[in-house]
Amino acid sequence: MDLTEKIISLCKRRGFVFQSSEIYSGLGGIYDFGPLGVELKNNIKKVWWEEMTRKHENIIGLDSAILMNSKVWEASGHLSAGFAEELKECKSCHKRFKLDELQNQTLKCPECKGELTKARKFNLMMKTSIGPVEDKAAITYLRAETCQGIYVNFLNILNSMRLKIPFGVAQIGKAFRNEITPKNFIFKTREFEQMEMQWFTEPETADEWFEYWKNERINWYLNLGIKKENLKTKEVPEKERAHYAKRQVDIEYKFPFGWQEIEGIHNRGDWDLSNHSKFSGQDLSYYDDESKNKYFPYIIETSVGVERSFLAFLCDSYQEIKGGRTKTTKAAKDVEILLKLDKRLVPIKAAILPLVRNKPELVKKAKEVYQMLKPYFTCQYDELGSIGRRYRRQDEIATIASITIDFQTLDDSTVTLRNRDTMEQIRVEISKLKEVISGYVF
Ligand code: GAP
Repeated sequence: MDLTEKIISLCKRRGFVFQSSEIYSGLGGIYDFGPLGVELKNNIKKVWWEEMTRKHENIIGLDSAILMNSKVWEASGHLSAGFAEELKECKSCHKRFKLDELQNQTLKCPECKGELTKARKFNLMMKTSIGPVEDKAAITYLRAETCQGIYVNFLNILNSMRLKIPFGVAQIGKAFRNEITPKNFIFKTREFEQMEMQWFTEPETADEWFEYWKNERINWYLNLGIKKENLKTKEVPEKERAHYAKRQVDIEYKFPFGWQEIEGIHNRGDWDLSNHSKFSGQDLSYYDDESKNKYFPYIIETSVGVERSFLAFLCDSYQEIKGGRTKTTKAAKDVEILLKLDKRLVPIKAAILPLVRNKPELVKKAKEVYQMLKPYFTCQYDELGSIGRRYRRQDEIATIASITIDFQTLDDSTVTLRNRDTMEQIRVEISKLKEVISGYVF
């Protein structure tokens, strides 16, 4: 099994990610996030949100709708050739293929050997309609990037928040793309979440801000434990850039399937605000009181997919320890899995484990401890299997603190607290648990 397969298996086995609609044979390129997955995803979003809106000055948040007037997508350029893939279609089975998949077989369908059409552009926007009548006026699209909701609210934000340039708007939300070839598990999907920040600046200082935000974003990953050697940047040449980008740097991560984009840093120039002004008839330029200049601000954008960073955090923190960490594993060939996620990202902060499950006093005490800690930390109660196996199960999902309730607990109200990283075990009074665990996880 390669690392991607191991991660997919861990995700299914331990409730991180499931194939969507699995009981109906699934739906291509769509995934559901299980009980641990939703915690990890929420933690990633929380850390990003705090970084953007609290650490930085002058960045405020927005939550715009997924559905917008279809004119938004005309103005943004997403309905034209720039946001499309060139494909050939099989006249017989109607499967579509990207040109680079057909290098040696330009004439016949690789699946059924049917005749192929000439190459045509297929747009990636997902179409839907609003209201009871399916006519042209009712057609709109699921958003392909969250940032358009920020641009069309530019005046609302400016006026309601009395902001001065430079300032930023952060948003997290779903985006949809009719990807022709979704692949590599949750790396490239048709429904995903983006965390995007749009920094509105004077055109003259846009280059400086670009460097600033590129560095800030790289540091975000490093600060969350991603190994330096697994990150790099790629200056994207003009012909490969997104249609709106004057400059584009991709932050790439070394996934098991190769170096791939995890986040895009874009200088979008005045593409968006000037086009929305043109298409809407509303003036979205900015008037600077001090310099008396009126101009379309340039936009520096940082844009990352939640699922892509989720996958990168899992790959980077996944470790296999041969012979076991404790060296007590009987079979020396045994492999223990340890997920060394940063404490801020860890889905379950504390596991509560009664030493045995057939002693009602221990179970009762363990459940009391669980109820006591649950309001403060994500907790998991587990009484199944030997204590060693339970520690291993917790290591596999990155749990920071494992708390064992044993016979001594009944005498002196102390428990054993095991630290994931050091495996050190200390006795802690139940009344001090909240404070000690806080020290581990915050
Ligand atoms: N607003 C700019 C924008 O959307 P992008 O490079 O197309 O730029 C930004 O997308 C990020 O969104 C990517 O770096 C990636 O993390 C994520 N992303 C894009 N398409 C995706 C897909 N099909 N599946 C999962 N994540 C995707």
